[in-house]
Formats: sequence, C-alpha cells, structure tokens
Amino acid sequence: IGKNISYHESLASTQKLAHKLADSGAEEGTLVIADEQTQGKGRLLRTWHSAKTGIWMSLILRPRIPMQQAPQLTLLAAVAIVQAIEDTTSIFPTIKWPNDILINGKKVTGILTEMQAEADRIHSVIIGIGINVNQSLEDFPDDIKETATSLALEEGEPISRTSVIQSFLKHFEILYTLFLKEGFKPIKLLWESYAVSLGKEIKASTLTGVLYGKAIGITDDGVLLLKDSLGEIHSIYSADIEI
Ligand code: BTN
Repeated sequence: IGKNISYHESLASTQKLAHKLADSGAEEGTLVIADEQTQGKGRLLRTWHSAKTGIWMSLILRPRIPMQQAPQLTLLAAVAIVQAIEDTTSIFPTIKWPNDILINGKKVTGILTEMQAEADRIHSVIIGIGINVNQSLEDFPDDIKETATSLALEEGEPISRTSVIQSFLKHFEILYTLFLKEGFKPIKLLWESYAVSLGKEIKASTLTGVLYGKAIGITDDGVLLLKDSLGEIHSIYSADIEI
C-alpha cells in the first residue's frame, strides 16, 4: 500500500484522478495525493473544502471480495486514520458512523468511498480521505467553522503531514491484510471500540425522513442498527447522524 504515489501540488480532485488511473490499470495500493484541491468532493454531492495544509488523498484498491462488502473498507480506513492520529499526536479521536472522525465532537476527517464494478466483480474501490491537519480556524469557511477542526488546532502545534500519511499507510496495510485473510470481524471490533454513536440516542436524517432512537450496533456489512422508542429496529444504510 502506497508503494506507487502520484503526488500533485494542485488537482481538481484526487478522487477524479484516482478513477482515471484505476481505469488505465493502476496497481492496487496506488495513492494519489494533492496539496490542494480546487473541486474537492464530499459525501452526498457536497463540496469538500481542501485548501493547502490538509491531507487530500485517494487510495486505489482492487480487492477480490463481493461487491456488497466494499463499504466495510470505509470502516477499515477510519480505523487506520484513528490509529495514525493516535500515533502522531496526543489526541484520541472517535468515529461517528459511518465515516466521520471527530475530536471533541468536531469533524477532522471525512472519507468518501467509491466503487467501480463490472457485472458483479469489483474493478476498483477508491477510498478518498480528507484530513484537516494544519488549518487554523480562519482557514475554514464560515459554514463549517463551528463543526470542523484540525489536528493542529486540537494539539496546539503544527503536525507533520508526512508523518500522518506514513503512519496511515502502515496501519492501513496491516488492517487490510488482516481483512483479506480473516474478513471483517476483527476490523468491526476495532471500529466499535472507537465509535461514539453506539449505545447513544441519535437522530438519523435519511433521504426518506428522520428517525430517532438508540444506536445499538452495526451489522457485518457496516449497516447501522437503530432501535426506536417502540422497540422496533431499523437498518440505516445512509444518513447523517446527530448524537
Ligand atoms: C465527507 O463528505 O465527509 C467525505 C470527504 C472526502 C474528502 C476527500 S479529500 C480527498 C478525496 N478527494 C475528493 O475530492 N474527496 C476526497
């Protein structure tokens, strides 16, 4: 993982270039990194603010796993990022389902996983990761100032982006090897140990409406299970969660 690195000072989106490289046969583990993105993409068609001082990267994977297991890789990446942050700072971040990494309740990292498949076979999975590293509060646009943070803001000093990337790649490789050998179970246990939403009362805003209840766990596919006040259990595939 990370043996081939395609580094750029500025890109529209590392995600876009990673798809292109994957289409032209880039090897598993190829990493696209940019210092700055002019059209960073977030989940649910949102834009992702990616000025210099952050880590913007997309990892190309070609796992031989059934298509419906691809979302598990998002949770795996989240665990690797938490471990990398713990290694390179004195911070202990938490994970909010499905893929936000929080420090003191504020978002420091987002993950966007996209898959290309032919028939039922995975052609490539592109894991896009944005980590706010050395931003100061003024660097964030007004609409996310209250909800976003950076490693440097939380640590009180600048953090080396290279160290975070290196540590992430090391942890990702260990976890990915474990995943290919033993499946999602060991990854799920680690993920759960970092998750803040589990056991809490949450509000889940989905495309079809809002649900309230207790987050009681995730399934082996990474689906969130929510128990409402009537005791009914709902499977949440995609939503924004408030705790
Ligand atoms: C989210 O909305 O939480 C996911 C944000 C993902 C941002 C990263 S930055 C690197 C990669 N390139 C993009 O354009 N987006 C992802």
